[in-house]
Amino acid sequence: MILITGGAGYIGSHCALEFLNADEKIVIFDSLENGHIETINALKKIGNFDFVQGDLKNINDVEKLFKNYKIDTVIHFAGYIQVEESVKNPQKYFENNVGGTLNLLNSMVKYGVKKIVFSSTCAIYGEPEYIPLDENHKKNPVNPYGETKLEIEKQLAEYDEKYGIKSICLRYFNVAGADSETRIGEWHEPETHLIPNILNNKQTFKIFGNDYDTKDGTCVRDYVNVEDLVKAHKLACEYLKKENKSDCFNLGSEKGYSVKEVFDCAEKIIGRKIDYEIMPRREGDAVILLANSTKAKKILGWNNEKTLEESIKTAYLWYNYHS
Ligand code: UFG
Repeated sequence: MILITGGAGYIGSHCALEFLNADEKIVIFDSLENGHIETINALKKIGNFDFVQGDLKNINDVEKLFKNYKIDTVIHFAGYIQVEESVKNPQKYFENNVGGTLNLLNSMVKYGVKKIVFSSTCAIYGEPEYIPLDENHKKNPVNPYGETKLEIEKQLAEYDEKYGIKSICLRYFNVAGADSETRIGEWHEPETHLIPNILNNKQTFKIFGNDYDTKDGTCVRDYVNVEDLVKAHKLACEYLKKENKSDCFNLGSEKGYSVKEVFDCAEKIIGRKIDYEIMPRREGDAVILLANSTKAKKILGWNNEKTLEESIKTAYLWYNYHS
């Protein structure tokens, strides 16, 4: 059985959907602090699984989970993800992301669970020294959110050496889009991410900084489609089963788009002008993040198929359905 922590959240729920479609046995663990019971209910219409509400910070919740379910592999999504909030309140991020993962790993040791796939991030690299970023690039996060993810990668390396827990760290670039059947999608409160904020017609869209050293002055990111992304988790589980060794992989589309380019693409898809205003730079933002995903393609056999346009289209369908 596969344990999915954070399975009521954006990427976790899309991963759960992928595993349900493949008839895998899963249990979802989520505190519902940021995840949504409505997402769990939507998944329940697709397949059978148990949902356990609990908090990784609470060791009793975690131990009970491992006691009650015969878990073979963990896919670990649960964590706080807002870069700006992490700059204001690093303690909250370290306690939850690093502390929560420590409880998870210690329970894995106790119950003899040896395989974990971890949601890492390109934010662990910080400002690129070269582009595109490969897995060997220097790790120098520019915000506490990225620091917590890097710290967890280090914990995982230690737990491999000492306890034989094998881990795959999947370093996501900017994840975008929604389930192509619009059953689930991106739902954060508050929403801080670019594409849902552009689509949100209840408030004027804000561009954070237009004076960066990029083609049009706005930050450049690599947007990877969520349905493409979650496929890498299945491949990572298969890799762990077959190879039984730890590794890390960048997951990106290998294409860079500026904030302004994403905005222009969204305007085209929506078919009308969107109001926007230029704001100061957002603290903790890297200027440019762009993936080299050759390793994931070669070793995991992963492929990134969907375009930015397709991601914005499914995000827009979801926005209309959900709002
Ligand atoms: N942006 C805006 N206006 C908005 C929202 C975002 O201009 O309303 C800009 C940001 O300043 C940034 C770009 O759009 O330049 C992308 O911002 P996102 O918030 O969508 O995503 P990030 O690049 O901050 O993503 C980072 C990491 C991910 C991580 C994510 C967690 O790169 O790995 O934060 O939320 F998962």
